[in-house]
Amino acid sequence: MPVQSAVIGCGNFARYIHLPNIASSPDYHLYAVVDADYTRARDAAREFGADNFLTDYQSVLADSKVELVFICTPHNQHAQMAVDAVNAGKHVLVEKPMAMKISELRPIAEAVRKQGVTFTVGFNRRYSSLSRKAKQLLDGREYPLLINYRMVNDIVRHPWALDVEVGGGRLISEAVHLFDMCSFLVGSELVRIHAEGGNLSHPEIPETQDNAVITLGFADSSIAGITIGDLGSSDYPKERVELFLGERTVLIDDYQLLEAYGFSGEHSLALPEVDKGFVQELVELAAAIRDHRPAPITEIDGARATLCAVKAIEAIKTGHAQTLNLAAVVEQKMN
Ligand SMILES: NC(=O)c1ccc[n+]([C@@H]2O[C@H](COP(=O)([O-])OP(=O)(O)OC[C@H]3O[C@@H](n4cnc5c(N)ncnc54)[C@H](O)[C@@H]3O)[C@@H](O)[C@H]2O)c1
Repeated sequence: MPVQSAVIGCGNFARYIHLPNIASSPDYHLYAVVDADYTRARDAAREFGADNFLTDYQSVLADSKVELVFICTPHNQHAQMAVDAVNAGKHVLVEKPMAMKISELRPIAEAVRKQGVTFTVGFNRRYSSLSRKAKQLLDGREYPLLINYRMVNDIVRHPWALDVEVGGGRLISEAVHLFDMCSFLVGSELVRIHAEGGNLSHPEIPETQDNAVITLGFADSSIAGITIGDLGSSDYPKERVELFLGERTVLIDDYQLLEAYGFSGEHSLALPEVDKGFVQELVELAAAIRDHRPAPITEIDGARATLCAVKAIEAIKTGHAQTLNLAAVVEQKMN
């Protein structure tokens, strides 16, 4: 049976990614769409064939027919909506970031533990066929990993994402993807973070962080360098991950090309189009719900990424490296 689903927030992202993917998947039925803007809710329902459209998300939480909610609203609403949805017994996919503040993390983790629902965060890149291939190439590694991850593009078109109160700035909004990907690729807990950066390109929002160079240290001695920002030409490709281990190197270029050096056999892959994992994310979420088990990405992963972003901002502001203790934040034993 398809999962009866409701999408909360029918803005740019939901309309381009989740709504079409839900509408075309046999795993889901689009039962309702919700947007605070009546016209957007109505238009999304018409375009994607939802049974119902609403402007108040509490109504879908009160509807026993809804099994799963997608939260695609501005970031300052994610944590409360996530807790409300979980406490209403719904499965949840909350878009990144799961939350903006450290104080919001434990209530989400506790609610998920208590309700036993399937809860996931929209860190889609992990589901890309190229991320999976890279992870497979790293399997059984004996050496620490050295990662160089660069994501530089322009988010001026989403001004609320840079607003400190509404979106949290670029580290809360975007760097969380990279923290999650580095954690996934390393497979060991993040223990230390340092960062340089701040406001390099948006003088009109002086308090926001828009560009940064961040270093991550992992429990297994792996290290990662992250470059994130919105300077430079928009013609230049957005994203590149380089992985170095022992005498081997793996490159993921814009989630379209994977090159492997120093491995036996041919492992390189060139895809006909970019694969950032959005379709596979929904396939695996539906399977997890059907099997009554956690999704591959959980609230603990969501908590880690938010913790990293908050601590990176703290590192920029104080000039001091920060230690990370995720277990203490979510009060759960970590690997
Ligand atoms: N995974 C990814 O790669 C990716 C990429 C882009 C955006 N996103 C995420 O998607 C989410 C939405 O981003 P967007 O670019 O679509 O923003 P947007 O501003 O285009 O859309 C947000 C929508 O939420 C609606 N909304 C606001 N408050 C609401 C409420 N209380 N109830 C119902 N609807 C409400 C707004 O009216 C708007 O239509 C964000 O979390 C963003 O980070 C994820």
